[in-house]
Amino acid sequence: MNLAINARDAMPDGGSIEIRIRDDQADEEARLPPGQYLALSVIDTGEGMSAETLKRAVEPFFSSKPVGKGTGLGLSMVHGLAVQLGGALQLSSEVGVGTTATLILPVATQLPKAEASIPVRRQAGRSAVILFVDDDPLIAMSTTEMLEDLGHRVIGVSSGLHALDIIRSGQQIDLMVTDHVMPGMTGLQLAAASRQLRPSLPILLATGYAELPEGSQLDLPRLAKPYHQDQLRDRLDQMLR
Ligand SMILES: Nc1ncnc2c1ncn2[C@@H]1O[C@H](COP(=O)(O)OP(=O)(O)O)[C@@H](O)[C@H]1O
Ligand SMILES: [Mg+2]
Repeated sequence: MNLAINARDAMPDGGSIEIRIRDDQADEEARLPPGQYLALSVIDTGEGMSAETLKRAVEPFFSSKPVGKGTGLGLSMVHGLAVQLGGALQLSSEVGVGTTATLILPVATQLPKAEASIPVRRQAGRSAVILFVDDDPLIAMSTTEMLEDLGHRVIGVSSGLHALDIIRSGQQIDLMVTDHVMPGMTGLQLAAASRQLRPSLPILLATGYAELPEGSQLDLPRLAKPYHQDQLRDRLDQMLR
């Protein structure tokens, strides 16, 4: 999905996205142990990347998109996923021609044991109503899914102003999770305004710490992005105790 969204963003005036899958023997370039792999490519006919952008594209928080449009986390997450699975992410691009992103993933050689029990997902300590604020639709979608899967009820909004409307409405909220870098109002500004309206509302700031201004007034609990469901659950359990 991240790769498809990047392809879409690279083609503001339209174009085509091709998704291809083929068998692959990992070659020298992938620097992977020999074996059977699948190569999944997302190919676009977009604006492409300069050599400099291409070099930095996978770097966490590197984005050429304006604030509120890009998080710079898409490719770093895709890369992390591929490496975690014993594979790799390859990017090739030409300015004005397009980009090919290829995920190389090892083919499983063993079937899972029939008796192997599926690990039980640990539920949240207690379920809560969570106001979740993030302007990035991809992060909003995945986090909402994680929170609901943990048994929480989610009120999702995409800006600080909307969040304040909800807080003002007086409806029940047990905790607010907010992004920091958002257009209009930052997470810290939202937290400060929320403290005025509802001083007892616990607030979790989900952000890359590199994004935070120095000497910020409010000392809020933080969760580093990108996070896994387990990290989110543990942090919320601490705060909701
Ligand atoms: N398909 C693509 N075509 C052109 N540039 C791309 C493409 N995919 C990624 N990039 C470049 O790499 C950067 C980082 O991508 P990503 O990690 O997904 O973050 P984001 O999309 O939030 O900017 C993008 O801002 C863009 O400059
Ligand atoms: Mg992206």
